[in-house]
Amino acid sequence: MMSLPSGWILRLLGTLVLMLQPGEVLSYCVDPPNIPNAVRKTDVGTLIPAGMVIKYSCRPGYQLIAGIRQGHVTCLQNSTWSSALNFCQKVRCPAPDVNNGTQTPMPRPGEETYALGDNVTIECDLGYGIKGNNNGNAQIHCKHDGTWDPAVPVCEPVCAQPPNISHGQYNDWGKRVFVVGSSVTYKCDRGFSLIGKASIQCVAGDEVTPTWSEPTPRCEETQCPVPHIPHGSLKSPLPHSYTYRTSVTFQCDPGYILRGSDRIQCQADGKWYPQLPVCDLGRCSYPPVLAYADRSDQREFLVGTVVTYSCRPGYTRIPGVSSHVTCFTNFTWSKVSELCQKTRCPKPVVENGKQISPVETEYTYANRVVFQCDPDYILRGSEGIVCRSDGMWHPPVPFCDKTCGRPPTLMNGLHNGGMKEYFPYDSQVTYSCGQGLSLIGESSIYCTSDGVNMMWSGPAPQCKVVRCPRPEVENGKMMSTRQAFTYNVTVRFSCKEGYLLHGSRVSQCQDDNTWNPPVPSCQPVQCSKPDVQNGRMVNALDEKMWYNVNESITFKCSPGYHFSDHWYLPTTDSLSITCSASGNWTALPKCKKQSNTEECTGARESKEFLHCDVPLTELRTLLELKKLYLEIQKLKREIKKL
Ligand SMILES: *[C@@H]1O[C@H](CO)[C@@H](O)[C@H](O)[C@H]1NC(C)=O
Ligand SMILES: *[C@@H]1O[C@H](CO)[C@@H](O)[C@H](O)[C@H]1NC(C)=O
Ligand SMILES: *[C@@H]1O[C@H](CO)[C@@H](O)[C@H](O)[C@H]1NC(C)=O
Ligand SMILES: *[C@@H]1O[C@H](CO)[C@@H](O)[C@H](O)[C@H]1NC(C)=O
Ligand SMILES: *[C@@H]1O[C@H](CO)[C@@H](O)[C@H](O)[C@H]1NC(C)=O
Ligand SMILES: *[C@@H]1O[C@H](CO)[C@@H](O)[C@H](O)[C@H]1NC(C)=O
Ligand SMILES: *[C@@H]1O[C@H](CO)[C@@H](O)[C@H](O)[C@H]1NC(C)=O
Ligand SMILES: *[C@@H]1O[C@H](CO)[C@@H](O)[C@H](O)[C@H]1NC(C)=O
Repeated sequence: MMSLPSGWILRLLGTLVLMLQPGEVLSYCVDPPNIPNAVRKTDVGTLIPAGMVIKYSCRPGYQLIAGIRQGHVTCLQNSTWSSALNFCQKVRCPAPDVNNGTQTPMPRPGEETYALGDNVTIECDLGYGIKGNNNGNAQIHCKHDGTWDPAVPVCEPVCAQPPNISHGQYNDWGKRVFVVGSSVTYKCDRGFSLIGKASIQCVAGDEVTPTWSEPTPRCEETQCPVPHIPHGSLKSPLPHSYTYRTSVTFQCDPGYILRGSDRIQCQADGKWYPQLPVCDLGRCSYPPVLAYADRSDQREFLVGTVVTYSCRPGYTRIPGVSSHVTCFTNFTWSKVSELCQKTRCPKPVVENGKQISPVETEYTYANRVVFQCDPDYILRGSEGIVCRSDGMWHPPVPFCDKTCGRPPTLMNGLHNGGMKEYFPYDSQVTYSCGQGLSLIGESSIYCTSDGVNMMWSGPAPQCKVVRCPRPEVENGKMMSTRQAFTYNVTVRFSCKEGYLLHGSRVSQCQDDNTWNPPVPSCQPVQCSKPDVQNGRMVNALDEKMWYNVNESITFKCSPGYHFSDHWYLPTTDSLSITCSASGNWTALPKCKKQSNTEECTGARESKEFLHCDVPLTELRTLLELKKLYLEIQKLKREIKKL
């Protein structure tokens, strides 16, 4: 604080005194006292009026002496300060109040508090621990402001020491006190597995004493699962159980190959190491190569694979030899022997001929053989044959056929056999004649046999000029427009009406220039004498054997006979018939015996109708006709009377 020299203050003071109202005497204090370990709180001027209180506070590390509420001085009426006692003393901390625990050191003899900077160790009684602290004790330090740092701890009941377990332990071995909220974690020794909860926590139970949250876990010997692999098994001796460090050895089934480690060990974590192996189906190497054989198209030869062989063209399987091999479980192929042999064809034999290619002891695929026939024989088939892959000759083995010589020749003609010397059995030659000539005989002959010798089926035909005369038929005509009539030409004939053809209607021109059958003739048609029973010719001169066309003769019936057998037709005395162009008589008459009475005839007729199963409708018509007839008769008679 700034202070003025006292001379100045006094002058100022006098001035102030003069200014005051008379009767009022004012007092002032100057320079408030310095109090040890205290500082003024109140900031004041140089002149402090009487009655004013100046407050102080203790310096850091000091505090008001017990019982003093506030450090202060007052300006008195006689301008002096009230007594300024020492009211700040060094800071002290109260003795910590600890239940269920002890403090060390105790306060110094004669004192109840601790001095600033004092360290006090609080140790909880057995069964108690410092809240929030697992050590069981805590040190507190007396601070400048008279409080403890950290704050005075509280001893609270703690959990019992976590129990020891066999083959395992919990963390924090050094720890002695287990307050509420603290936890421990158990861990098993290698090869042992923890059963239960690994971590347990100290919790405040219903009772005063806290307890562990979980039952204590246990450690049991670690067991690995029974190892099993497909297509494999464990090699004996088998261990009783499977526990940490136990080893097992695998083996694969026959045909399988182990991939991975065949020996594995049970690890502390209950797992096997290395990992379980795998049994893979094994395979054979490439299948054997067989001479002259191809194998089925496979790329993989796993155990059990069957490879099938087939013989190459020109080779055939040796009978009884298996054509396949199998990949065995020991990765070898089944035994295989020679499978294919060159295809053999049978020895070719050609009778009446010989082989002109070299004769071999045996004939195999692709061998070629050439044949030639003996003279007078002709080779039928192919002269060269080849042994085929299927053991057959191709084309088939030929044979030598007996032959006919040249066919017979003919004059003025030729055959189609050409200049060939030999003609095989059944071969045919056809002859032809020169222009204008007719071929007489068989135009074709063929080579045949009489059972012993070969011969032509017949002689050669002939070539001749054949001209038949133009056929003339009187009263007839020829149905042909030809001008020349050569060999074999056929002609049809017909006669004019009223003329009858005598002979054959058809004739053919023969190689001797004649017609055969002979050209027919046309004779006038005649009717033969008609035969009329119970009748006669009216004119006896008419009676003769033959009648010309259009000639008529008249007949009469003998007495007691009449012409019609139809009683209802009018009867006539005589009837003429004429010889028709067809040689028949027109309506040859018949003479019937005459009935006694018309009625009788009628009755007989009616009776006959009934006998003849005449249909009733027709019968009715007949009866109506009869009725009509009777009426006509009646009418006739009446006309006669007139
Ligand atoms: C001032 O007054 C107080 C009490 O009123 C007294 O104790 C003190 O002795 C006085 N001081 C002087 C110098 O008179
Ligand atoms: C713990 O302190 C409490 C309160 O002071 C007291 O009642 C109790 O008996 C003490 N316990 C022991 C075991 O000393
Ligand atoms: C109290 O402990 C603190 C820290 O451990 C130390 O620095 C200080 O000297 C101690 N005080 C006394 C009085 O022993
Ligand atoms: C628990 O085990 C530890 C370490 O072996 C041992 O020091 C301690 O005495 C054991 N406690 C009991 C209760 O057996
Ligand atoms: C492989 O197995 C087959 C069939 O079991 C047997 O015949 C053959 O001798 C074996 N081969 C070898 C080399 O063991
Ligand atoms: C002549 O006719 C007969 C039969 O009518 C026939 O078999 C023959 O082949 C014919 N001849 C010719 C050369 O036409
Ligand atoms: C027959 O008579 C008919 C008709 O009068 C006549 O045409 C025909 O030429 C006659 N026949 C003969 C062969 O006289
Ligand atoms: C002539 O009479 C004969 C025999 O009765 C018969 O076969 C022929 O058809 C008759 N001809 C004609 C043209 O009526």
